[in-house]
Amino acid sequence: MAGRRILAVSGSLRAGSYNTALLRAAADLVPEDASMELLEPAILAGIEPFSSDGEDAPSDAVHAWRRELRAADAVLFATPEYNGSFPGHLKNALDWASRSDSDTAGLAGSALYGRDVAVVSASTGQFGAVWAQDALRTVLGRQGARVVDGPKVAVPRAAEAFANDDSLSDSGQATRLRELIGQLLAATEAIAAG
Ligand SMILES: Cc1cc2nc3c(=O)[nH]c(=O)nc-3n(C[C@H](O)[C@H](O)[C@H](O)COP(=O)(O)O)c2cc1C
Repeated sequence: MAGRRILAVSGSLRAGSYNTALLRAAADLVPEDASMELLEPAILAGIEPFSSDGEDAPSDAVHAWRRELRAADAVLFATPEYNGSFPGHLKNALDWASRSDSDTAGLAGSALYGRDVAVVSASTGQFGAVWAQDALRTVLGRQGARVVDGPKVAVPRAAEAFANDDSLSDSGQATRLRELIGQLLAATEAIAAG
């Protein structure tokens, strides 16, 4: 299936983010018949704290976030780890994504419902944010996303992990990342064929 589009979501709002660098490295590993686009950081940064009281009039950032998720064939998340889990602003954005514009849609109204997703991570610590990854997978699964169970890409000591061209210095990590992207795309094909 040609032309599949992966949305790449960095859980970091930091300008020099290693997780965003990891997504740039991932974009270079996407096969020619697919593409990967990075979510505009201002969208995540602009999402207000979730409250049911504000659901009738979400911000433009919330609308853009849901629209980008729904337009993608698959989503690749790269998450930092803050105190053993993924960042609060990303959880907040996922809570918004899980709520549809319609009161009656339930779980199926989630912008991520039935969507193929994969999770990678990078951290300056020695474990590469594995706890953040696991926590993020759990939350994605709870809102009906189909989480690809591919090779684990958790990049430790991120400050030394990238070459000048943003590629991963560790060829083993690059191989796992390429395989994970392949499995993510294969999952979208299975849906199209099914
Ligand atoms: C508030 C805070 C908490 C952190 N907690 C963890 C942690 O639990 N585990 C870890 O590996 N790194 C932790 N770090 C270090 C981050 O991995 C590091 O800042 C990383 O560069 C963040 O990702 P980014 O480069 O994509 O912004 C923490 C950093 C901050 C600012």
